[in-house]
Amino acid sequence: MARIALVTGGTRGIGASISVALQKAGRHVIANYGANAAAAEAFTAETGIEAMCFDVGDFAQCSKAVESIATRHGPVEILVNNAGVTRDTTIAKMTRDMWDTVIDTNLGSCFNLSKACFEGMKSLKFGRIVNIGSINGQAGQYGQVNYAAAKSGIHGFTKALALEGARYSITANAIAPGYVDTEMVRAVPPDVLEKIIARIPRGRLGAAEDIARGVLFLTADEADFVTGSTLSINGGQHMY
Ligand code: CAA
Repeated sequence: MARIALVTGGTRGIGASISVALQKAGRHVIANYGANAAAAEAFTAETGIEAMCFDVGDFAQCSKAVESIATRHGPVEILVNNAGVTRDTTIAKMTRDMWDTVIDTNLGSCFNLSKACFEGMKSLKFGRIVNIGSINGQAGQYGQVNYAAAKSGIHGFTKALALEGARYSITANAIAPGYVDTEMVRAVPPDVLEKIIARIPRGRLGAAEDIARGVLFLTADEADFVTGSTLSINGGQHMY
């Protein structure tokens, strides 16, 4: 039986590449999305991967979604917490709402979904949880106190969860992508982005597939001994 994989933010950007890579690896993938129904429909039409709409920042919606997957397909065995948003601006201009949105969506989601999936993984004595952090959670970034705090929180969350999951063969790892060619990164002002790319030793933005490759490694059945780690995939921009 194909293992059941849930990828949040899985119909666009890095998440879409992760969903497709997992599908190619023989997983039964469900790709969550938050709002962009047109993109989700197009993704499903192209890949045949089921898209499921719910707000990853909402605890009740996450529990309900995981229950529905369990009823229809079986417990989620592979969880990729990828969904994330930015609300970039300096702290002087950042509103409380911009802070809350980023913390709830990027970090709260990891709690909501890991908790919803944990019991099922425990009963199977198998689980693979991959949380997508960021270079900006490792190094900080001007204009991102909210995003850097959420992503940095993901790295601590992952290590603590790895300790709790170990006895049940549930691994928890993080990937810290650098700047990857997605809509989110293309929203950075061009002059700022140019300077960022100039500081990447590989001399280019990452591709979404560069990150998906890391997810495949961490979610393999054979990756049982890899837990609590952070895999940096950033073209050499930051060595942590
Ligand atoms: N270091 C020092 N100063 C900086 C700076 C930096 N890195 N970036 C901007 N500044 C300065 C500017 O020079 C300007 O200074 P002056 O006022 O003296 O001219 C000031 O900060 C900008 O002030 P503003 O009031 O105009 O700032 P703003 O509220 O408009 O915010 C910004 C600007 C949002 C920070 C913008 O510079 C920006 O978007 N920066 C990039 C942020 C970024 O890298 N985001 C990553 C998004 S992708 C992602 O997050 C994915 C991932 O995981 C990697």
